[in-house]
Amino acid sequence: MPIVVEKLTYTYQAGSVNAFTALKDVSFTVNDGEFVGIIGHTGCGKSTLIQQLNGLMLPSSGRVTVDGFDMNDKKQRAKGRALVGMVFQYPDYQLFDETVYKDISFGPRNMKLPEEEIARRISEAMRLVGLDEKEFSDKSPFELSGGEKRRTALAGIVAMYPKYLVLDEPMAGLDPSGRKAVIEMIEGFRKTLGCAVVMVSHSMDDIARSADKVIVLRDGTIYKSGTPAEIFSEAEELNEMGLEPPFAARVASRLRKQGVPLPGGIYTNEALADALSGIKGGSADA
Ligand SMILES: Nc1ncnc2c1ncn2[C@@H]1O[C@H](COP(=O)(O)OP(=O)(O)OP(=O)(O)O)[C@@H](O)[C@H]1O
Ligand SMILES: [Mg+2]
Repeated sequence: MPIVVEKLTYTYQAGSVNAFTALKDVSFTVNDGEFVGIIGHTGCGKSTLIQQLNGLMLPSSGRVTVDGFDMNDKKQRAKGRALVGMVFQYPDYQLFDETVYKDISFGPRNMKLPEEEIARRISEAMRLVGLDEKEFSDKSPFELSGGEKRRTALAGIVAMYPKYLVLDEPMAGLDPSGRKAVIEMIEGFRKTLGCAVVMVSHSMDDIARSADKVIVLRDGTIYKSGTPAEIFSEAEELNEMGLEPPFAARVASRLRKQGVPLPGGIYTNEALADALSGIKGGSADA
């Protein structure tokens, strides 16, 4: 069963002179096991949208259902929320316990799991996010680096085995190797836990490579949605929206302008390397 968002509209400070409608008539579905990428320029409503997926914010109009549980209904909301693990844009707000271990155990403990199951899940989650259990368990979350805080917040969510993992800019502030590690980690959860992933990111390369479906938000509405091929093959259109196309799409577009006969629809490094090796009649290790 999916998450279904139907005609969702959300207004901040509704009824006041400062009322601001951040989402208008947004509809989409997150199917079981699907990887949905959400992109759009800053302030277009991405964080506002994903906070509706676990009922942290409630629609001004419209509806979100999680596996059939209506998030507008207080009783059903608790059941829906239990299926959705959310990692916020700023992980500092998510960490509050004395030690990393206690922080990660907070969710599983709330689920009233037996002690040995909690311990097993914490070990597994720390392994999945790449935090050494011996080294980090007794540290205070406040003495961690930004990347380590993010991993701790992720581990706490992963340990609850969410059916839907919702991530707001999980790669923000990381260098390319850190970004690669995080995206591989998310792919790892998906395999191990079998969860669906909803990920907000400014990194088109990461979304292009991992997503099954991409949603482009613009000023609070869905401007376009489709497969990565449908979204990322139109480099010009992305540029117009102020979004930087994936690296391979930019290179392909520039080479075409210089007369290199490349086919359309190139948006991953692998596809670019294949197309170039076809032209040279040899192999390209791009
Ligand atoms: N508490 C609030 N009160 C009023 N307006 C708000 C509030 N929070 C956000 N907004 C506005 O709603 C819009 C959407 O904000 P949101 O944080 O969802 O954007 P975003 O797409 O996540 O941006 P970013 O890429 O910078 O994270 C913005 O114009 C923002 O100024
Ligand atoms: Mg945001």
